[in-house]
Amino acid sequence: MKIAFFSSQPYDITFFNKCNKDFNFELEYFDIGLDDQTVNLITEDVDTVCVFVNDKVDAAVIEKLSEKKVKYIALRCAGFNNVDLETAHKFGIKVCRVPAYSPEAVAEHTLAMLFTLNRKIHKAYNRVREQNFSLNGLLGTNIYKKTVGVIGTGNIGAVFCRMMKALGTEVLAYDLYPNDKLKAEGIRYVELDEIFAKSDIISLHCPLTPETMHVINPESIEKMKEGVILINTSRGKLIDTRATIQGLRAKKIGALGIDVYEQEENVFFRDLSGTILEDERLQLLTSFPNVLVTAHQAFFTDEALTQIAYVTLDNLKQLQATNKIEGRNAEL
Ligand code: NAI
Repeated sequence: MKIAFFSSQPYDITFFNKCNKDFNFELEYFDIGLDDQTVNLITEDVDTVCVFVNDKVDAAVIEKLSEKKVKYIALRCAGFNNVDLETAHKFGIKVCRVPAYSPEAVAEHTLAMLFTLNRKIHKAYNRVREQNFSLNGLLGTNIYKKTVGVIGTGNIGAVFCRMMKALGTEVLAYDLYPNDKLKAEGIRYVELDEIFAKSDIISLHCPLTPETMHVINPESIEKMKEGVILINTSRGKLIDTRATIQGLRAKKIGALGIDVYEQEENVFFRDLSGTILEDERLQLLTSFPNVLVTAHQAFFTDEALTQIAYVTLDNLKQLQATNKIEGRNAEL
């Protein structure tokens, strides 16, 4: 099987080449993203395209993939909102993903963002480097005994709930499918409005769907507690960025941590340090002292990358052998 990788970074090449020693597929890497132009790079001998979060796998691209006789689209990530599944099914192209790889990696990054913002570690780091040892402006709060709202309690949300519970917080959760184990551990499922009204910290762990798009919007921000810390490590479009900037300016939102951003596909995973950023909203956000932006790195641990490479290649091995993937919830 020949697999064409799009949006491939040096670390993708390292981890996939290492893992491929057990699979012996033919791997071809393009650093460019997949779209209706770059799809033309695919040669007739390619069976599979392997894509990541910001590759555009819409109807037009899928139609071209079908013309090129591509059989499989393998997502090397969990979220699949960037793939037009209906069109893929129509053309008989199988789509698979890596449903769960180290949820701890993302939950730990969420925790890191929360602690950084709350105790202003990002500011302290810079200050001390300039021999400014003053504490003025670095005041935080205890996380202990605070109320934390978690939206989405799947693989990652569940780990995050448990971490927060272990820190002595009250955890309120919202999910379409409440998790009985979490309930038994003292996590309380409530309606979204109660999360907005009572939480000192809100963390988003649901997928991007038509229902969750802009779940953080002017109305939900209005319902929140003054000074709420908002963290999003899920998908950028869960947050209405404009409304969130207004919420920050009005001091309704006390701090914002985002590992994902509405327009991230034009910026993230690239070194743009020698250029002037054209995205004015992102530029504005990064200038706020109480905003922390990381560039979609929550998943980025050695363990997660090893697992992503293994599960992606194993998904394809199974599809090639039996046209289905056993017991992994990986086939879409
Ligand atoms: P999951 O599928 O295990 O859990 C998602 C949960 O959200 C499920 O319990 C589901 O019932 C719930 N949900 C679905 N629709 C909802 C709605 N309308 N309201 C509330 N809850 C809803 O997914 P997992 O692995 O926990 O990942 C969550 C999200 O994290 C992914 O969709 C992806 O967007 C993001 N992610 C981000 C990464 C990063 O590096 N920043 C890495 C991996 C995932």
